[in-house]
Amino acid sequence: MRDVVLVGAGPMGEAWIDTVSRRDDVRLAAVVDLRPDAARDALGRRGMELPVFASLDDALAAGSADIVLNVTIPAAHLAVSSTALRAGVPVLSEKPLTETLAEGLELTALSELTGTLVATSQSRRFSRGIIAFRDALRPYGGAAQLSARFFQNPRFGGFRDEMDSPLLRDMAIHTFDQARFLLDDEPTRVYCEEFSPPWSWYRGAAAADAVFGFAGGARFSYSGSWCADGLMTSWNGDWHASAAGGSATWDGETTVRVQASDEPRTAELPDAAEGLDGALDEFLTALDGGAPPSGEVHANIWSLAMVEGAVASSATGRPVEFAELFADAHARAVAAAPSEVAAVLRAWSEPAPRRA
Ligand SMILES: NC(=O)c1ccc[n+]([C@@H]2O[C@H](COP(=O)([O-])OP(=O)(O)OC[C@H]3O[C@@H](n4cnc5c(N)ncnc54)[C@H](O)[C@@H]3O)[C@@H](O)[C@H]2O)c1
Repeated sequence: MRDVVLVGAGPMGEAWIDTVSRRDDVRLAAVVDLRPDAARDALGRRGMELPVFASLDDALAAGSADIVLNVTIPAAHLAVSSTALRAGVPVLSEKPLTETLAEGLELTALSELTGTLVATSQSRRFSRGIIAFRDALRPYGGAAQLSARFFQNPRFGGFRDEMDSPLLRDMAIHTFDQARFLLDDEPTRVYCEEFSPPWSWYRGAAAADAVFGFAGGARFSYSGSWCADGLMTSWNGDWHASAAGGSATWDGETTVRVQASDEPRTAELPDAAEGLDGALDEFLTALDGGAPPSGEVHANIWSLAMVEGAVASSATGRPVEFAELFADAHARAVAAAPSEVAAVLRAWSEPAPRRA
């Protein structure tokens, strides 16, 4: 039985409380929130009584912790995850790994320094539909041209209405991470234009078109909007993939269609844990000695890089090469990180980490 300390008791923290409660090999040991009342309310709504703390340091000093779930706001991700790693406690973090790519590199180096696992939960790569979609084109060598359309119109209110690049920074990381999963490869360049349709109710740009090149030669194009009234896509987007001799589509839910030289057919869905359950399952398997989770920091940082690359391309009006993006972020991380972490970063053979 592993003790879980949850940090951040907002709506997503509550979803994680329920995810932990569905398993019998982990138990919630404490909840941390800057606003302890938020933690008490979240527990109270579930009839649970557990220790509540205002800081992770206090929780780690007071009781046992085998896993830290970091479900705080992105601006707090680096500090909270670092506290856990320095205490030798593995971290499963909500997306994004950190707020910036430079911070992500610092956290990657700290994970190496402490020998402690940190992974991001990218819940949208855990679905029966996406696995069927990926597997549909495996007999044809995998997708070489992949596209996703994402059109939704949520009225959140709150921070998303005020932040810069709300679509790219808060949502597109899911779709970009799904593309990495589907292509099983890493990006090398991106060109992106983000913009605000005249009717947008967001302060920052709520729509974007981007095209990524991947190391193996595949292309991924993304077209998205968070202020698209009518005919919305699934929250997973609406996908099309072409391979040598066949194509597949995924509606973002449970319908995967495939056609080669034969009639179109509907693919069968495999059994698989979905969403947060899938992410936690994979993390626990790694702690038990299994394969590293797919959101392990050396891998997941490439999803964060896709966001940062897209934002940078849009700002400059030019394509961005990931080698340059990582070199720039690496220099910033070396300058900002504590000396022992900067020393690890300097010892890397290249600025971009590679999958563990
Ligand atoms: N996977 C998904 O589909 C999905 C969906 C929604 C949100 N998220 C992610 O989950 C995270 C949380 O989202 P949310 O909507 O619950 O946010 P929220 O702002 O509603 O809640 C965050 C909570 O963290 C607390 N907090 C902030 N800094 C803290 C710190 N340093 N120490 C302790 N507590 C701290 C806040 O007081 C707040 O209660 C974000 O990273 C977000 O991107 C993921």
